[in-house]
Amino acid sequence: MGNCCSGSAKCANASTPLESKVTTTTRSSTSTTMSGSNNDKDPDDGVRSSSNKLDEGSTTTPASLRSLKSFSMSDLRAATKNFGSNSYLGEGGFGCVYKGWIDEATLAPTKAGVGRMVAIKKLKKESFQGHKEWLAEVTYLGQLHHPNLVKLVGYCSDSDHNKLLVYDYMLRGSLENHLFLRRATQPLTWPTRVAVAADVARGMAFLHAQGVIFRDLKSSNVLLDAGYRARLSDFGLARSGPTGDRSHVSTRVVGTRGYAAPEYVATGHLSVKSDVYSFGVVLLELMTGRRALDGSSVTLVEWARPRLGDRRKVIISRIMDTRLGGQYSKKQAQEMAALALRCLHNDPKNRPAMEEDVLPQLEQLVQHNNNKFSSCSSSSMSSSTPPPVHVHTPSSSSSEQRRRHYNKSSRG
Ligand SMILES: Nc1ncnc2c1ncn2[C@@H]1O[C@H](COP(=O)(O)OP(=O)(O)OP(=O)(O)O)[C@@H](O)[C@H]1O
Ligand SMILES: [Mg+2]
Repeated sequence: MGNCCSGSAKCANASTPLESKVTTTTRSSTSTTMSGSNNDKDPDDGVRSSSNKLDEGSTTTPASLRSLKSFSMSDLRAATKNFGSNSYLGEGGFGCVYKGWIDEATLAPTKAGVGRMVAIKKLKKESFQGHKEWLAEVTYLGQLHHPNLVKLVGYCSDSDHNKLLVYDYMLRGSLENHLFLRRATQPLTWPTRVAVAADVARGMAFLHAQGVIFRDLKSSNVLLDAGYRARLSDFGLARSGPTGDRSHVSTRVVGTRGYAAPEYVATGHLSVKSDVYSFGVVLLELMTGRRALDGSSVTLVEWARPRLGDRRKVIISRIMDTRLGGQYSKKQAQEMAALALRCLHNDPKNRPAMEEDVLPQLEQLVQHNNNKFSSCSSSSMSSSTPPPVHVHTPSSSSSEQRRRHYNKSSRG
């Protein structure tokens, strides 16, 4: 038998709209998932849409499934050594994730070490909400393809109500692990952090251009490939944005505490600017190496805002991740801090747009770092240090390691 998913689940609780907003602490670590209700909640939240570029109409067999491989449960058992503990990668709100192997051409299961590596997410069976999120994931990822979105290879949905998702394997695991599982990885360098921020912004800009709101942007949903290129994962809570002149859609409150925009939590009014707020939180995490929520009563945003509020008084080194060892451009850090503050503006109208505003700014920083790196390496070969080699340890190392780190952190 493989691992059983014993941790608390986002989906189990999220399926029950609550009387008052908020909720359910779902895991021992950072992710506290919210599920609330508001007066004009959307019963088909996430999957249904009236008019959109995407095919979201059907709740049974969306057209998106046609572009994906349909795996049987026995295929996936074979690909993961029966979901054995050696294949276990981690656990999220919807279930456990396992490493597996499939043939490059036929996508049939292969022996470990042969063919293409995949990550297989196995949804907890008992959850109705999990089914909706599974469907949202195949609906969106079956149709949306972009270098900064995780690639969905296929799915399994059988008569025994097994629901699984098969993704391209992302060798370096989640950004969350790199930032917060301190003993497991070497710290990400400053240029890598800037590049990751730009990749995430590119993925978000693409989604917004398609009329899609991601709704669960956080560092655990940013996955890194072998070259530290970032892709967004987890589209279970994604939904269509407003159409026409409307500024927002009204919806149930779901997402993750510490990342969700305040107006969305308060009113259920969701817009692309809700994603921009969450992006601001991820920027702060990249800069500070601190979690959006660390168990203290103060969120990262509440901690950082007064420290960044008045540019004249900001001593940027006071907020920066000590794991950077001072190896960052102060000017870039100031720029990133100013951008984060704009993203975190309380009024969504005053937050910048991903495509027109956030992305160009970050791409400029990346460009600058690349130019610097290439001029350094052409003038002195010895200065061209390769990026550090990070080992992707199972994230669920997780509960134990995360809990330990969690206890240590403070918002001093
Ligand atoms: N495509 C993938 N490649 C490699 N590892 C992955 C992949 N997808 C998920 N993982 C690993 O599995 C872990 C659990 O992922 P999952 O998305 O289920 O949970 P989460 O993001 O931590 O929480 P949530 O359910 O709130 O999104 C991740 O942290 C990551 O380490
Ligand atoms: Mg996730």
